[in-house]
Amino acid sequence: MCGIVGYVGDRPCRDILFRGLRKLEYRGYDSAGISIISDGRFELLHSVGNLDNLEAILDQMAEAGTLGLAHTRWATHGRPSNENAHPHTDCTGRFAIVLNGIVENYLALRAALQAEGHEFTSDTDAEVAAHLIERAFRGSLQEAVAEAYRQMEGHFTCCAIAVDEPDVIVGIRKETPLVVGLGEGENYLASAIPAFLAETRSAIFPEDGEVVVVRRESVRLYDLEGLPVDREVQTIDWDEEAAEKSGYETFMLKEIHEQPTALADTLAERIGQDGEVVLDGLGLTPESIKEIRQIIVVACGTSYHAGLVGKYALERWARVPVEVEVASEFRYRDPVIGPDCLCIAVTQSGETADTLAAMRLARQAGARVLAVTNIVGSQATREADGVLFTRAGLEIGVAATKTFLTQVLVMLLLGLYFAEVRGHLTRKQVRSYSDELRNIPRLLGDYLADGAAEHVDEVARDYAFNRFFMCLGRNLSVPVAMEGALKLKEISYIPTDAYAAGEMKHGPIALLEEGSPVLVVATDSFVYDKLISNVQEVRARGARVIAVASEGNEALKEMVDEVFYVPRTDEMLAPLLAVVPLQLFAYYVAKNKGEKVDQPRNLAKTVTVE
Ligand code: F6R
Repeated sequence: MCGIVGYVGDRPCRDILFRGLRKLEYRGYDSAGISIISDGRFELLHSVGNLDNLEAILDQMAEAGTLGLAHTRWATHGRPSNENAHPHTDCTGRFAIVLNGIVENYLALRAALQAEGHEFTSDTDAEVAAHLIERAFRGSLQEAVAEAYRQMEGHFTCCAIAVDEPDVIVGIRKETPLVVGLGEGENYLASAIPAFLAETRSAIFPEDGEVVVVRRESVRLYDLEGLPVDREVQTIDWDEEAAEKSGYETFMLKEIHEQPTALADTLAERIGQDGEVVLDGLGLTPESIKEIRQIIVVACGTSYHAGLVGKYALERWARVPVEVEVASEFRYRDPVIGPDCLCIAVTQSGETADTLAAMRLARQAGARVLAVTNIVGSQATREADGVLFTRAGLEIGVAATKTFLTQVLVMLLLGLYFAEVRGHLTRKQVRSYSDELRNIPRLLGDYLADGAAEHVDEVARDYAFNRFFMCLGRNLSVPVAMEGALKLKEISYIPTDAYAAGEMKHGPIALLEEGSPVLVVATDSFVYDKLISNVQEVRARGARVIAVASEGNEALKEMVDEVFYVPRTDEMLAPLLAVVPLQLFAYYVAKNKGEKVDQPRNLAKTVTVE
């Protein structure tokens, strides 16, 4: 939530900062600002709305300065306005800060600072940081930031610049992301790698409470007492093209089409010579896997749906009880767990505040914690006992697509691995699944290359102005239906409910009237016939049914209004294919309504606040 980028070097930085912000816009887009030190003073620019508005006034700022900070905001405290847009300055105009996250004790700090005569110009929690630095400054920005940090509670990343020290940017983090990009004679500080990916692949990931002091020629890290800290430089292997649309009209559409590659990359080296599953980084020995009595999956949103698929796989294959819980509930529930429990946190960003809190709670209760994430260096990777990376590459579209599919894949791999270790599937059985898994990227690639998007687009045109949708599934297609419903909600803004089809008679069927659109995930499954009975029930109430079905199921065509056929595969692996037409359907409904799919209202890609 919120994007931060800082630059210090020998190039004029206004446009460099703006380009960095563009790459971070997915983190928030309700207001933005830039602050550059030029001729011993700050130049400041703020705008409300997305970055197009900032770009329109960028010329008002001189190009000359070579050190600056920029920010794109997702409002937490204070509505989107010029006053509340970052960077914020102190009373004297000598310090400018940007902040991502929340300063929880800001009201108390603000009152104390006001009592001392500090004047505030915004409603944000972030502005206290500027005044705390002003108060603490004794000639060293590094020390002043460390002192301000000590006083602020919550979880945040804060970067600061000072006109009295015009060659330095100081940053610090507490449970939210901060990454340093190392260039030649120039360096970057940012809340995410895409901000500088076009300029450098070398990065340092500071830990909480480390004061990062960035100059043109050097990057140094210190603890809060000022003692130097060493951190390894890491090489980022993301393709810079990942941050571009490569000819697609939106990031979301590009990312939907990247799913075959994302699956292939996530699968690479995870299936051995004999078809066995190989999970480097798991952090669990075969003995400890055998001792697990309970698995809790904690996650939010789309990642929660991937966790639900994992539940079906782990229970059916590995015969271990699995609960999947929304992290924001789990963290306040006083759950009954202990050392024989494995907690799996599914989080593409690795930074979701509730998921991190749920991981900590599980760990305190003695559980081992495994993170499934897409982001190297993210907070989840620092706090887990083991990490399984999805290798979806950078996902910029706010609505998750390829990260979901790769999460599902990792959960399926985990299910197979646990099943073999626990003696519930033989190597031969595992091999037959892993052979089929190897086929999935190609099947999906063929499906997308074969005009799937065009067909879905055609159908979606007829439904773009519907009042609501209902999505149904049974067994493994329930989480698929839930994910399809979430995509529709978040990018088309059309109310959509998802249900286990057997639940319809217990209430939701009352919603249906002549013409109500119902999406049914009806790929091959042992409960297919049951699902078809539910389809007949909704048809009998006049619903228009759009089904997702396995290729070759011609009979279904006669029963429903539209069918999106996906390639045939084993029913346990079907979610990897069945969700794609639903992603496309949501996409084209939104496009046909004229919505901005990459930037849905009120949302941000990384939810670092509770
Ligand atoms: C929906 C979406 C969100 C995220 C959720 C969790 O398209 O992207 O629902 O899935 O905010 O985010 P992560 O996976 O980063 O923990």
